[in-house]
Amino acid sequence: MKGRGNSRWTSERSLEELAQLALTAGANVVGRCVQRLGRPTSAYYVGRGKVQELASLRHRLGYSTIIFDEELSPSQQRNLEDALEVKVLDRTALILDIFAQHARTREGALQVELAQHEYLLPRLAGQWTHLERLEGAIGTRGPGETQLETDRRLIRRKIQHLKRQLEEVRRQRALYRRRRARQRVSVISLVGYTNAGKSTLMRALSGADVLVEDKLFATLDPVTRRVALPHGGAFLLTDTVGFIQNLPTQLVAAFRATLEELSEASLLLHVVDITHPDAAEQAQTVEDTLADLGLADKPYITVLNKADLICGPDGLPIEGLESLGDVRASLRYWRPDAVLVSAVKGWGLTDLLGHIEAALGLEEESEAASWGYRVRPAS
Ligand code: GTP
Repeated sequence: MKGRGNSRWTSERSLEELAQLALTAGANVVGRCVQRLGRPTSAYYVGRGKVQELASLRHRLGYSTIIFDEELSPSQQRNLEDALEVKVLDRTALILDIFAQHARTREGALQVELAQHEYLLPRLAGQWTHLERLEGAIGTRGPGETQLETDRRLIRRKIQHLKRQLEEVRRQRALYRRRRARQRVSVISLVGYTNAGKSTLMRALSGADVLVEDKLFATLDPVTRRVALPHGGAFLLTDTVGFIQNLPTQLVAAFRATLEELSEASLLLHVVDITHPDAAEQAQTVEDTLADLGLADKPYITVLNKADLICGPDGLPIEGLESLGDVRASLRYWRPDAVLVSAVKGWGLTDLLGHIEAALGLEEESEAASWGYRVRPAS
């Protein structure tokens, strides 16, 4: 369900992504709906007529949950649930739910739990009493299940407790980073939109056994591996959580500890799925998020991944696919030294390592790329 347009993303593409997120969370998507409004209504976010339409669709489609692509206020969410008698979630709750499923380390689990409690706090009014029967539905994993027998005071106490535990984890992480710094090993962090292929690239570069899944946010916790450089030496490569448009504020804050890894890095590798129809929007979202995190000035190399889907091993576009030219043209604002790779096929990795050596000041950048194109701005 989408309430209004977004400057960069069309409603349709954004809803498509929301559907992917819902599938990742385990839902079955039975319908989509858009309403164009000058501004959201305070009672329901959408207009009353739309609420009635949604109520009548319920009999036809038999849906049990509605997910809004925009952030709802606690009262809008409550009003919609009362009017429609189904569970109503927003994008934030959905992403929190996916993160709850994917947290594997203690730090990841603590961060998600903290974000979920902070999301829950203003929504604690016993408003979901009529939804108790919807056990196991999306958005009920984690603290959602216990909210009915708890109150604000308990939640606040829990938040304090989680923050203290996270502080301890953060201290240990800082110690580890200091030890790493003493060893004078450069740290490079992978960043990118969710599903861009960061984990696959990490595996290709380091041979590490890293989880790769065609799912949004398969990687939640930072993983660090050592990668050898062609002319001697090595660096540590860190894989971090994928970015997404409208990354919930609570999550940006809660993941600060994970993202602190980024601020320690000497260099970022920004991985872009060049075959995605929204590649340019996704890349811009990542750059915006990095800027929000105060990392706009961090040196980075743009790595255009999944080249095997658009060209052959010789770097030439697959016959009948003029997309490479189109993509290159549409990426005019990108860095001129972007490197084209296929993490799955291992193409372009020598070129990428050459760029990394140059960026780390370990070697003069060679003019001749061993494979692939440099994407240059059109203008
Ligand atoms: P998050 O954990 O969501 O942040 O994803 P990620 O960026 O770590 O992506 P991941 O490495 O899990 O890859 C996502 C999907 O893209 C998987 O199905 C990969 O097999 C696929 N993929 C990654 N790299 C390539 C590539 O070079 N070519 C092709 N064809 N597919 C790729």
